[in-house]
Formats: sequence, structure tokens, C-alpha cells
Amino acid sequence: MSVTIASDENLHYPVLLNEVLSIISPQNGGTFIDCTFGQGGYTEKILQFPNTKVIAFDRDHKCKSIAIKFKQKFKDRFEFYNKKFSEIDCIKLPKKIDGVIFDLGFSYNQITDKSKGLSFNHTGKLNMKMGHNDISADDIIKKLPAKELEKILRNFGDEKNAKLISKNIIQQRQNVDINTEELVKIINLSKKNFTKKNKATKVFQALRISVNNEISELISALSKSCNLVSKDGVIVTVTFHSIEDKICKFFFNTVSTYKSVSRYLPVNKKEDLIFNLINKKVITPTIKEIKINPPSRSAKLRAVKRVGKNKIKTNFIYEKFKNLLETEQLTSKL
Ligand SMILES: C[S@@+](CC[C@H](N)C(=O)[O-])C[C@H]1O[C@@H](n2cnc3c(N)ncnc32)[C@H](O)[C@@H]1O
Repeated sequence: MSVTIASDENLHYPVLLNEVLSIISPQNGGTFIDCTFGQGGYTEKILQFPNTKVIAFDRDHKCKSIAIKFKQKFKDRFEFYNKKFSEIDCIKLPKKIDGVIFDLGFSYNQITDKSKGLSFNHTGKLNMKMGHNDISADDIIKKLPAKELEKILRNFGDEKNAKLISKNIIQQRQNVDINTEELVKIINLSKKNFTKKNKATKVFQALRISVNNEISELISALSKSCNLVSKDGVIVTVTFHSIEDKICKFFFNTVSTYKSVSRYLPVNKKEDLIFNLINKKVITPTIKEIKINPPSRSAKLRAVKRVGKNKIKTNFIYEKFKNLLETEQLTSKL
């Protein structure tokens, strides 16, 4: 029996849902943290199994109305926090956590929400705030100096024309109010080369990562999750761009070679391990899923399982991605 709670206009398909469920095994019961509640696609499926509980986070305040309906239906088996997932340790959590799940990026409802300004197909003021933000894309485009802007476009968008685009933005912002359409025009004029993707994709991705501090959010939440998930519990990530995937891949590969002596060293003995990689090879959607839901094509699923009890020191991840974390800080004075 279907128990779909989300509104009729909800066209969001939970990506890699069956694969996530087969890793977290909610049929055995347990407490799961859904760090990216969204339209509640994952949470709803988990709660269909008896003896399960979901503690959900989402930074977008528009998720609250869906969460209220879940609360009415599932009562104390469901809790919702309109917070960023980096604040996962700021609430009182039960001792036993059987899984922490991240389905990163944005939902269909967010990309089609004109007020959020996440899409280059929309018109109007630049925004890109997902919720609980300090700055918007409008602030970055209107106030950030050229060098800093160039760095954001290059490091977060892998944008080869970052220098020319930022130079043209700085020049144009003296004459016009750069909104979404103006920005797309500037990008199109700056990029002459043919690309399969829309020319604005990389710039919009870079701005969204910057506005929402996506790098520090992910690094902080992964670091905290690995020390709050219980033995036999899992951490699962579904990513949609190469930077997120690089972070998850490195984090999971590193913690799965971490020894029980709380130092990051390669191990020889299996019994010393604290985490095991669940899937050595990344899991991607089937052709069938991509046909039904084309935006799922870039999804990548990685997961680890806690097999030992010791805590992990996670400074290695902050050191590894220092350059990206510094890039994120470039907007802190705006
Ligand atoms: C792809 S959607 C999740 C969809 C969900 N799995 C479902 O099936 O409905 C990603 C969600 O994560 C939320 N999100 C992104 N970054 C976040 C963060 N740092 N903290 C909390 N929520 C975040 C977004 O607001 C969005 O609602």
C-alpha cells in the first residue's frame, strides 16, 4: 500500500532509493538520520517498516510543511529539524544510530522554485540560498572582487573561462543590475567554445556551492557522522557533482583504512578496522532509472559500515580539502 504524503505537485523522484534501502536494511528496524529530508522520499520508505525511527534534517524551511504531515502520521517515530546537517550533533540523539544518509544537492521542487533562483532558465534576481544562509548569489556577483570571483568559478565549477567571465561580470556590474538573465548573457558572450552542457551550468554550480557553503557542510557532517554512527551502522552518500564525490570517496577510503589505535595508518589485520567500504565500486543508477528520472544520471552512491568501536580523528579531511575550504571563505567578508 502506498503512503505517499508529499503534495500532488511533488515530482521529485528519490534517486537510487532501492540501492540505499538495500544498504541500510530498514526491514531490521533501527534509528536512521536522514540528513537531507527534502520531499521525504527516503524517510517515507524507511518508516514503512515497523520498529524504525527517522531523525530528519533539512535546511530549507519549505520542507517544514511536509515534515508536519509526517509527524501527524508517524508520531514519535519521526523528528524533523529545520537545520543544516553540519548541526547534526547539536540535538539530543539516541545512543544507537543505525544509519546516516545524505542525498546531496537539491530537489525538483527547489530547482523549479523561482524564488530560489537556482536555475539558469529562470529570470529575476540571483539568489541560490537553500536556507539558513548568510549571503546570496546576488551578493557574490555584485560585491566580490574579480580575483576571488575567478577562484570560486574555477575551484567550484571547474570553469576554464573563469578569468574572462569574472572580468566581464566586474565590467558589466558597473552598468547594469546583473540578474539571472544578465548573468547567462555574460557567460554566453564569454564562452565561445561549444559544449554539450548549457554554457552556464558550471558558473551556476560554483555559485550555489559558494552560497550554501556546501564543502564545509559536507566535510563537517561526514566527520561528525563517523563518530556518532553505532557499530554495524552505515553512512551512505548520494552525490551529484565531482567535488562532492571526491570528498566522499576520499573520506570513506581513508576511514576504511583507519586503525583501532586512533591513528590514521594502513592496517594489515582485518580486526583492527573501524569502518569497511560497503561498495568498492561506486554505485550508479540503472538505465531504467535514468530513463524515468534523467537528472539521476550524475548520481553516485558510496557507503561505509562501522565494524569497530573506536573514535576517529578527522583532521585529515580538513587538510586534504584545505584549498576548497579556503575558497569557501572568500565570501566571508561580504
Ligand atoms: C536531493 S534533495 C533530497 C531528497 C530526499 N532524499 C527525498 O527523497 O525527498 C536534497 C535536500 O537536501 C537539503 N540540503 C542540502 N544541503 C543541506 C545541508 N547542508 N543541510 C541540510 N539540508 C541540506 C536540500 O534543502 C534538499 O531539500
